[in-house]
Amino acid sequence: MYVCLCNGLTDQHVRDAALAGASRPAEVYPACGCTAQCGSCARTMRSLINEHLVKISAAGD
Ligand code: FES
Repeated sequence: MYVCLCNGLTDQHVRDAALAGASRPAEVYPACGCTAQCGSCARTMRSLINEHLVKISAAGD
């Protein structure tokens, strides 16, 4: 699913960036080689990153 239409980023791009250490949208864009444009994807990105962090912390329990 596309998360960021301005940059053509999918949920997989966001998960991969989170896996590589991005903890907020401002870190996802450079990890994907792009920059924030309209910013309307930030909320969805934040949710995906948070889901990812919850999974990591659950896996570490
Ligand atoms: S939809 Fe991501 S910056 Fe516009």
